[in-house]
Amino acid sequence: MRLTDVSRRWGHRPGYIRTLYWMWARIYDLTIGWDRAYRANARMMVEATVEAGDRVLDVGVGTALLAEYGSPIAAEYVGVDISAAMLGRAAHKIVTDEMANVALRWARADTLPFDDDLFDVVVSSFMLPHVERRERTAVLAEMSRVLKPGGRLGLFLARGEVAPLFPTRQELEHHLADAGYVNPRIEDRDDVYRVVVATKPDAPG
Ligand SMILES: C[S@@+](CC[C@H](N)C(=O)[O-])C[C@H]1O[C@@H](n2cnc3c(N)ncnc32)[C@H](O)[C@@H]1O
Repeated sequence: MRLTDVSRRWGHRPGYIRTLYWMWARIYDLTIGWDRAYRANARMMVEATVEAGDRVLDVGVGTALLAEYGSPIAAEYVGVDISAAMLGRAAHKIVTDEMANVALRWARADTLPFDDDLFDVVVSSFMLPHVERRERTAVLAEMSRVLKPGGRLGLFLARGEVAPLFPTRQELEHHLADAGYVNPRIEDRDDVYRVVVATKPDAPG
């Protein structure tokens, strides 16, 4: 059985995710560091969505990679994840003055423990492949629930056309529309990556 078959079959199960990242957490930043395009495109997504003074939620915060770019811009930066090991690595990183506005919390993407309309921006990087295809619209809708009207969603992903665990452009367009987002911008970058920015509609009236 290939690794992608394993991920396809079990990649969404909390036990699998926690075990995978328990093993990977210590060297995660090292492995991601090898890929300059990952960091560059993640940063580009953050800078395209986060504005000065924003309250930001990062779903699947991992080792707080996006927070390195977002927290200096944002007023408040909250990261959630289901891997205690990854949150532990993130906690090591945020004990600096530059990241004093970052808070971390254990939480699942499908049941975010926050009030409606709370955040200016929700960002998420490489978390969506861990969500079953049929659950992806619901998870994006849950992100929209905690966004303020007019708030922005930023996703950093691989292209499903070349990396089958990820959504294709067509699937993404459907997920975003069904979850109620408008004005989606989907940009393919560096062969394999994809940056998505979309908006929660303003409240009527
Ligand atoms: C590939 S890592 C990406 C981490 C970070 N966003 C980055 O780009 O470096 C995926 C992260 O999503 C988290 N994750 C997976 N499924 C999740 C879920 N349902 N709710 C919250 N976090 C989840 C994992 O624990 C892991 O830390």
